[in-house]
Amino acid sequence: MPSFVAALREGYARDTLRPETPQSIAEVAGDPAAFVAGQLAPPTSVTLPDGSQGPAVPYTVLWYVEGEEFLGSLHIRHHLNANLEKVGGHVGYAVRPSARGRGHASAILAAGLDYIRANLDLERVLLTVNAQNPASIRVIEKNGGVHTASIPHIWIPGDTALHYWIAL
Ligand SMILES: CC(C)(COP(=O)(O)OP(=O)(O)OC[C@H]1O[C@@H](n2cnc3c(N)ncnc32)[C@H](O)[C@@H]1OP(=O)(O)O)[C@@H](O)C(=O)NCCC(=O)NCCS
Repeated sequence: MPSFVAALREGYARDTLRPETPQSIAEVAGDPAAFVAGQLAPPTSVTLPDGSQGPAVPYTVLWYVEGEEFLGSLHIRHHLNANLEKVGGHVGYAVRPSARGRGHASAILAAGLDYIRANLDLERVLLTVNAQNPASIRVIEKNGGVHTASIPHIWIPGDTALHYWIAL
């Protein structure tokens, strides 16, 4: 947990569409046990990027660690809903800023795809990525992603969300 809190402080965000705030980090740092419990029993509703509440699909959060050091995370949504079909998809990931550029995201996604093959009944997964995120586009393409669509981003006006599918 100390390493996870350090990652939050250095700019790692649990939700790529919403940066952490001093308050959100203080909540985790102040009650790590409650935070871990929440990770293990995810809530059935989720705060959407516009601040409204929406139903959460079942999901799994996996941490990528080296010894005691938190390096990054992978979020797996077990199925899509109307929002996730547009932005979010099945799989999201993030690497803490100090650990970027070393191949970790590529390894995280590859390991995540193996996890999905072993644990979920999915034949293919959707990944969505902002057109202005070339590093993530590269990570997806290295993992076999096929670009199928580009749509207006539903949460960031003016931005474009690229759709990639990876066959499992
Ligand atoms: C996107 C992110 C996950 C990448 O993590 P990472 O560990 O640095 O990624 P990797 O080192 O595995 O690979 C990055 C690849 O993109 C390439 N890359 C990096 N910056 C690039 C750029 N500006 N233009 C083109 N390619 C770029 C790297 O060269 C590397 O490709 P290579 O292996 O062929 O050399 C990380 O920047 C991050 O956490 N960002 C915030 C959250 C986020 O955007 N998540 C993805 C949401 S879809």
